[in-house]
Amino acid sequence: MQIQGLAAKKSGAKLEPYNFSVSQPQDYECIIQVLACGICHSDIHIIDNDWGLSTYPVVAGHEVAGEIVEVGSQVKHLQKGDRVGVGWQRSSCLQCRDCLRGNENLCNQNQALILNGAGGFADYLAVDSRFAFPLPPEIDTKIAGPLLCGGITVYSGLRSAGMSSGQEIGIIGVGGLGHMAVQFASKLGNRVTVFTTSEDKAELASQLGADETVILKKGEDPTAPSRELDILLSTVPTSLNWAAYIEFLASDGTLAFVGVPDAPLTLPLFPLLLKRRRVMGSPIGGRAIMMEMLSVAAQHKIEPIVEVFPFEQANEAIQKVRDNKIRYRAVLTVS
Ligand SMILES: NC(=O)c1ccc[n+]([C@@H]2O[C@H](COP(=O)([O-])OP(=O)(O)OC[C@H]3O[C@@H](n4cnc5c(N)ncnc54)[C@H](OP(=O)(O)O)[C@@H]3O)[C@@H](O)[C@H]2O)c1
Ligand SMILES: [Zn+2]
Ligand SMILES: [Zn+2]
Repeated sequence: MQIQGLAAKKSGAKLEPYNFSVSQPQDYECIIQVLACGICHSDIHIIDNDWGLSTYPVVAGHEVAGEIVEVGSQVKHLQKGDRVGVGWQRSSCLQCRDCLRGNENLCNQNQALILNGAGGFADYLAVDSRFAFPLPPEIDTKIAGPLLCGGITVYSGLRSAGMSSGQEIGIIGVGGLGHMAVQFASKLGNRVTVFTTSEDKAELASQLGADETVILKKGEDPTAPSRELDILLSTVPTSLNWAAYIEFLASDGTLAFVGVPDAPLTLPLFPLLLKRRRVMGSPIGGRAIMMEMLSVAAQHKIEPIVEVFPFEQANEAIQKVRDNKIRYRAVLTVS
């Protein structure tokens, strides 16, 4: 099958048309017609080879919403015409201890959609059907994609950090991930404080459910929020003065990283040790929590706020993400 995609042919390059072919779906594979695809900051990290993992040409795009057009012989749970979403993960071994515990995202053999094949900046996507998730009818195709990476990452990250309800939750960065994190934390009954460099986002954050906003001034340390935080989730793709943020945690509080800073963490031990605080990272989410997240989003009307661009304007959309001008997730759609 011929696929028309958009690819970066070298590090940092603009996307260009790129055609390639995939074979008929085998066994558990399926082919999805891509109807919409979000632009996550990880697409930019991979286009730029920030993590040294990229192989060019890169067909990025891993917040896919679309329709099944073909399935392999072993696929019983999906059929032609079903609406599905696909996120960062392409497949896993489904047999190791992590996979059997429902943590396919932690599998040593897990494959990433855009590192181990072509992603969703294309008209069709070939993927393991066991990582294509049926979309609840309440969730519109145009906004579904961002839930499949950004949404699951913050939901799973907050849950893994111990989020329940009645807690003090801080979110650093109100971008694609951050604006969904505010909604999940707030709708599930927590008090939310956001830390943002963009003054215009303070009002939106309060509409999304934030109770307090700390504006971050360039080159200055953050001012302390009015209450100590049980969980502080960083969604920013850059390095901050993490030692200052640790001081905002309550005893037993957790600083959780889902955003990927551009330098190793340097942290003093005593503020952790004396208050039994923790630091953790969290990658995307396994299949069970993906299904849970989708139903929580449907139930609580947690919806990404999207700026829609036709696929032909992918480069303009990517530039706006780079410039932190998107409010709050860019989504490419077929025109
Ligand atoms: N752990 C995982 O599995 C996982 C999954 C998806 C994404 N990620 C990572 O999460 C991070 C955020 O992704 P995203 O898609 O939410 O990105 P995004 O939409 O670009 O949002 C990032 C936000 O971070 C803040 N920010 C502060 N300093 C910045 C800087 N120097 N450059 C850009 N943004 C800055 C901005 O918020 P304010 O304007 O509010 O300051 C910005 O809106 C990326 O590092 C991405 O790779 C990780
Ligand atoms: Zn992503
Ligand atoms: Zn496994």
